[in-house]
Amino acid sequence: MDELTYYETLDGRENAYTINAQSLKFGAGVLAELGPDAVRLGMKRVAFFIDKNVDGTEPAALAKESLRREGVDFEMFTESRVEPTDRSILLAGEFAQKGAFDGFISLGGGSVIDTAKAANLLASYPDDLMAYIYAPLGGGKAIPGPVMPHIACPTTSGTGSETSVVSIFDLEERRVKAGVASPLLRPTLAVVDPTTTHSMPAGVVAATGFDVLSHAIESYTARPFSSRPRSESPDKRPPYQGANPYADIGSLAAIRIGGRNLVRAVNDPEDQQARHELMFAATLAGQAFGNAGVHIPHAMATSVSGLRHTYRASGYECEHAMVPHGISVVLNTPAVFRFTAPAAPQRHLEAAAALGADVDGADPSEAGLVLAGAMIRMMKETRLPNGLKEVGYSEEDIPALVKGAIAQKRLLLIAPREVTEENLAELFKKALRNW
Ligand SMILES: [Fe+2]
Repeated sequence: MDELTYYETLDGRENAYTINAQSLKFGAGVLAELGPDAVRLGMKRVAFFIDKNVDGTEPAALAKESLRREGVDFEMFTESRVEPTDRSILLAGEFAQKGAFDGFISLGGGSVIDTAKAANLLASYPDDLMAYIYAPLGGGKAIPGPVMPHIACPTTSGTGSETSVVSIFDLEERRVKAGVASPLLRPTLAVVDPTTTHSMPAGVVAATGFDVLSHAIESYTARPFSSRPRSESPDKRPPYQGANPYADIGSLAAIRIGGRNLVRAVNDPEDQQARHELMFAATLAGQAFGNAGVHIPHAMATSVSGLRHTYRASGYECEHAMVPHGISVVLNTPAVFRFTAPAAPQRHLEAAAALGADVDGADPSEAGLVLAGAMIRMMKETRLPNGLKEVGYSEEDIPALVKGAIAQKRLLLIAPREVTEENLAELFKKALRNW
């Protein structure tokens, strides 16, 4: 669908999109202002969620010093799990409920920030976690009101959790990703200090960086908001609304900046500028997908990271075996973009061009191939696994993978074209090996 249709008001079609902009502070060294930020938000006693690998780094020391200087009392929680589970979330919830806190700070990757969001919810409005998990996996209970203030400080340039409205975790017994989604979960303030990425291992830069690119390209290629049926009332508009003119700006810019910097940031640990720029791309992409949404690659990823835990990724050696989120997403993208391109060839070509691919003279019918090719080139240059086979899957797993992905209705709904179980089976098969 062409961009102009954004402004054609079609009978029965959505005529509006809403943007809940994120309060954001960005800058090298800005964690040293965390104390005044906490005071301004009325925090006196803080539940401080920190990644154990980040605790002990200089940015973390600056953050704590700043809180102490302002007289803000805090208690640390270092037990957030990488790729959280319902069990690890409940542990964090218990900590949050017992501590009589009036505010939350998270300093770490998406897992730490997501854990803090869920713990904040459980402390603000105690209830069974399953009740809050979105349908059909959980009860889909609406959050009763505002939760406590939360300052989210990302240390990986990837997930966008600091600006997103979701908290995602594994349901251990059902081996699938689930979560809670509500605008009320969006952190009150995002404090983005790119110096936190200096100590990040190359493998983590790669995994999280490809997550950024996927967020941006999926947001840009999502079905347009104006193609959805009109919402019965303003509060019925879903958090993921589809591509829209506001999100497009951030998505395209993030693809461009990510395309220029991802390979550099992975392959040269001294290239701080590339890491800083990647952090900015992550912020832009996070804001874009926060209202536009992500689609098929992320829906497939929920199965890929939920089902089998045998893979050990470079850069995550000290963690349990698992497929890091960004890898579980990006391995699906070549197959998916070839499948979705016929629905929006121009957008797929624009995304490929923003990544740096030569699209001169490319026919719209080649859009999927061109975009998939650009992704594969970057995946090779950063030594990513060649498809789902290398992270532990085979053809026999496809029915189970499809079962998990098809349950992600809120993501599949904004895919550029309709997706059946048969389509997903075919996509998983193709994603087993990308080149
Ligand atoms: Fe993601």
